[in-house]
Formats: sequence, structure tokens, C-alpha cells
Amino acid sequence: TEQKTWSQRFESALHPAIAIFNASIGFDIELIEYDLTGSVAHAKMLAHTGIISTEEGEKLVAGLEQIRQEYRDGKFQPGIDAEDVHFAVEKRLTEITGDVGKKLHTARSRNDQVGTDTRLYLRHQIEQIRSQLRDLQGVILTIAQDNVETLIPGYTHLQRAQPLSLAHHFLAYFEMLDRDWQRLGEIYQRVNISPLGCGALAGTTFPIDRHYSAKLLNFTGVYSNSLDGVSDRDFAIEFSCAASLIMVHLSRLSEEIILWASQEFNFVTLKDSCATGSSIMPQKKNPDVPELVRGKTGRVFGHLQGMLVLMKGLPLAYNKDLQEDKEAIFDSVKTVKGCLEAITILLAQGLEFRPQRLAEAVAEDFSNATDVADYLASKGVPFREAYNLVGKVVKTSLAAGKLLKDLTIQEWKDLHPAFEADIYDAIAPRQVVAARNSYGGTGFEQVRLALKAAQERILVN
Ligand code: ARG
Repeated sequence: TEQKTWSQRFESALHPAIAIFNASIGFDIELIEYDLTGSVAHAKMLAHTGIISTEEGEKLVAGLEQIRQEYRDGKFQPGIDAEDVHFAVEKRLTEITGDVGKKLHTARSRNDQVGTDTRLYLRHQIEQIRSQLRDLQGVILTIAQDNVETLIPGYTHLQRAQPLSLAHHFLAYFEMLDRDWQRLGEIYQRVNISPLGCGALAGTTFPIDRHYSAKLLNFTGVYSNSLDGVSDRDFAIEFSCAASLIMVHLSRLSEEIILWASQEFNFVTLKDSCATGSSIMPQKKNPDVPELVRGKTGRVFGHLQGMLVLMKGLPLAYNKDLQEDKEAIFDSVKTVKGCLEAITILLAQGLEFRPQRLAEAVAEDFSNATDVADYLASKGVPFREAYNLVGKVVKTSLAAGKLLKDLTIQEWKDLHPAFEADIYDAIAPRQVVAARNSYGGTGFEQVRLALKAAQERILVN
């Protein structure tokens, strides 16, 4: 095999299998654009502080930009011998610029370098994921806008509880995704700090200017302890946690869509563009998209757990274990982005609600029972007493195969003299929903206000 950058100190070559085991180039090539950007800033800082000459600085920057172009053109494809993306770039730079290229690594270690790359990468990905969250929120608002007065059964324990405005149901997901968006914004602040210049672990003997390179890279500050800067991955774990929470939210929504599309619920039809068939059962139309989102949630949770365990026993400072953070981060990013895209398409054009069936569903059960109790309570009957009374009516109605709306006015009055003819209005599904006009509730008036507030919220960046 080829000579390693560090081979002067060694007697003999690395075992080929160990070289492969050790190498990260197979996956950390994902960092190349960020690695080049970080190196450009480092080279400029070296020239700015006089550690290298202006001319040398310019040569390094030009060489690094040439590598960027070669990579984009598919002409720079480092093999396994390169060990990792950092060595691959330095080697190519030295081929291009000659001895000047060998000066790039002055006052730097791969440890602060990889820390810089990872933060630049995550910063960029967080921006993209936040914008995808906003897209999905926008689609959710369109569904909500069209369905303020569409009713859907609301559940607790997956038992019919109280009917809801379908818009209210979707606005719940809007809120969850909004917190995901905020959370990523907060994490961004902690990702956006520069470890460049921390060196291998202890800083450097050269008169570097860490604030200068940080500024070039648009970091808002620098790590103030060199050991900490190169050895913690808490920012990546925070990202993993935020990614996991996004997946929790997408997975719950997916689970509901899967239920709604079942014949037992039959609340939605999946459009052909977002569903698949079976190889044996000709009648099948399967909700593969939400199932895959629900399934992929597991790997994102796994990466969070993996990173926590990866970190917990590491003595300061850098340890090669840290190389294992990359595939976890990359896969979480790729999975979350893929799921956000698929769910956004599914909601935008793959779901057809079945209004007729939804209207039947909210009228075929006892989800208006609370409203009967509320009716009596509003006439002065203590709530618990009213609740007990209605519990009995539900029992006898169930036995008689009747719904509450089927009781005659005489039956209501026999139950309690406070009942009047307006009880029928009070227990009609539409009124049951409309009446829950408390702040944050499902009443149409509240939902319209919430919708408007939500629309305004996503206009702000
Ligand atoms: N490929 C390494 C990683 O991903 C780069 C840093 C290597 N540093 C070292 N001292 N071996 O962590």
C-alpha cells in the first residue's frame, strides 16, 4: 500500500485489512466541501497573522478551490489509501501546489479540523431541515384551512372521546413541528461555535487568530477551552435528539394516517401516486409511505442512543472512537430529510379525506355524552351528579341499541327535569365541537384564530 502521511515514524506498513478498518474516507467524503471551506479559512488566517506569506496563502486558497471544482466535476475521487478526507485533501493540495501545500497543516490538527467540518456540515443541514419543516407546516395549514368545519372523531385510549374539527387535529401537528423548528434554531446556536485553533488538544505554539478564522466561517464565537473544543460531541447529540423528536412527530402522524386508511376507519383514501400494491393480493392498496416513516424512526433513535454510549466513557481529549459519530449523524440527517420530503408530498397530494364517512363517524357513538353532563351542570346540577346520571343513560341506551339523540324529550325529562327541547341541539356533533370555544380548544372560532396565528407565525422567517 501507499505511504501514509505519518509513516516516517513507523518501521513497516499497515496491514491492508487494518488500513481498511481504520479508514473513514468511505463515508467522511461527505464532509469534503466543509473541509475545503474550513481549510480556506485556516489558510487565510495563517497569511493574515504572518505565519505564512500572503502569496503562500493565496496559493493554498487557489489550490483548495481547484480541488472543490475537481470534486464537483467528479474528477477527485480519493481511494481507501487516503485514510480520511482530511489527508486526501492535503495530499491533492500538495500535488497541485507543491511544497506550499505542506504548509497548510501548520498550527492545526485533524482533531480541530474534523470538529470544524462537522459543525459546518450540521449548520448547513439544520438550515435545510428547518426549511423543510416550514414547507410541511405550510401544507398542514392548507389542509387545516380547508377543513375547519370538517369533523373527525377525537380519541383517547383509541376510544371515541369527543369529536373534533379536523383542522384542530392537524394544527396539533403544526405546533409539534413548530417546536421542532424552534429547537433546531436553539441547537444551531451551540453548533455555530468554532473549535478551529484548538489544535490536537492543547492549543498551538503559533500566534494564530482564532477569532479571525471563526469570523471567516461565520461562526458566532470560539470554544474557550481547547480540550473541550476538540473532544465533545454534545452539539451532535443535541442534533440527534432534535432529529429523534421530529421523527416521533412524523411517526405519530404516520400511524394515524395508516389507521385512517384502514377499512375499519375508512377516513381517508390514499391517492395512487402515494400508495403501493401487493404482489399477491390484487385488491390491496398499501400505505407504504407512512409505514416507512414510522419504521425509519427506529434508526434515528438508534443513532441517538449510539452517540450517547459512544461518548460516555471517553477520557479527554480526542479518541478515535469519535470517528464513529459520522455515520450516525449523516444517516440521521439523510433519514429525517427523506421522511420530511415524503410526508410533505403525501399530505400535499396523496390524501383524500372522505367527508361522508367522517360525518357518519361523529354521529354514530356516545362522544356527545360529556355535553349532556355539561348541559345539566350549566343548569346548576353539580357536575359529578350530572356525570353519574349520563353514565346510566349511556348504559341503558347501549342495551337498547339507541344513541343519545334517539331519546324522546319525555325520556330526557324523566331523567332530570332540567332537560328542555334544546338538548337535541346541544348534542348534535357540529354543536358539540363549536361549543368548545375555550382558548386552545376545538371550537370553530378558536380554530380560526389559531389558524390565523399559525399562518402569521410561519411568515416570520
Ligand atoms: N477521521 C478522523 C475522525 O473522523 C479524523 C480525526 C483523526 N484524528 C486523529 N488524531 N486520528 O475522527
